[in-house]
Amino acid sequence: MIPQEIEEYAERHTTPEPGFLAEIARETHLTQVYPQMLSGHLQGTLLRMLSAMLNPSRILEIGAFTGYSAISLALGCSNPEGLVHTIEVNPEFEEIINRAIHKAGMESRIRLHLGDALRIIPGLDEIWDLVFIDANKSGYLDYYQLVFPRVRPGGFILADNVLWDSKVIGHSVKNDKDTEGIIRFNEFVTHDERVDHLLLPFRDGLMIIRKK
Ligand SMILES: C[S@@+](CC[C@H](N)C(=O)[O-])C[C@H]1O[C@@H](n2cnc3c(N)ncnc32)[C@H](O)[C@@H]1O
Repeated sequence: MIPQEIEEYAERHTTPEPGFLAEIARETHLTQVYPQMLSGHLQGTLLRMLSAMLNPSRILEIGAFTGYSAISLALGCSNPEGLVHTIEVNPEFEEIINRAIHKAGMESRIRLHLGDALRIIPGLDEIWDLVFIDANKSGYLDYYQLVFPRVRPGGFILADNVLWDSKVIGHSVKNDKDTEGIIRFNEFVTHDERVDHLLLPFRDGLMIIRKK
């Protein structure tokens, strides 16, 4: 985790958040029990930059929450064919996500699917240029294995929270399915010869994976 002061310094020296993203962040902090799940200014900007670098045509996000990261990914993508599919299991977020997408003017660039990603992904007939895994931590490896065959060679998979509040080191995984899930995912990717990968110790850890 970055010390608070450093995070604030980095935010002051990063392109300011667009107003509609700042509004989503504010509303999320006011209305949600776990607002820290939101990507926020720095990570949102990183996602936007990565999307701008890759210029993907098809992006899959697993775990929309209040829509901040889906909008960030869509904002970066200047590909006229660019489309973000985002999946959220909790129907309580539907209204806030749709409102956020509307405020960002991204209705034609983001498609929201409500339901369990494990059920929805097999029905999406797309080849992915970029996948962002950010849902329940116990499911990371399942999501990876499910999407992998449909990621194009040279395509990228990003996975958030792979340091899991430092619990990946020296923490008992007994009765802790989330930590166990993240460790299992990190180990699998580390031994997966089909990919190049970087565990970037940014925020709560971002795994950047490129399919060879
Ligand atoms: C960490 S939050 C996502 C944060 C968001 N990507 C962002 O950066 O602002 C994780 C989200 O995944 C959702 N989720 C959990 N299990 C899921 C599943 N099986 N399928 C789809 N979404 C799921 C949760 O309801 C929650 O909203």
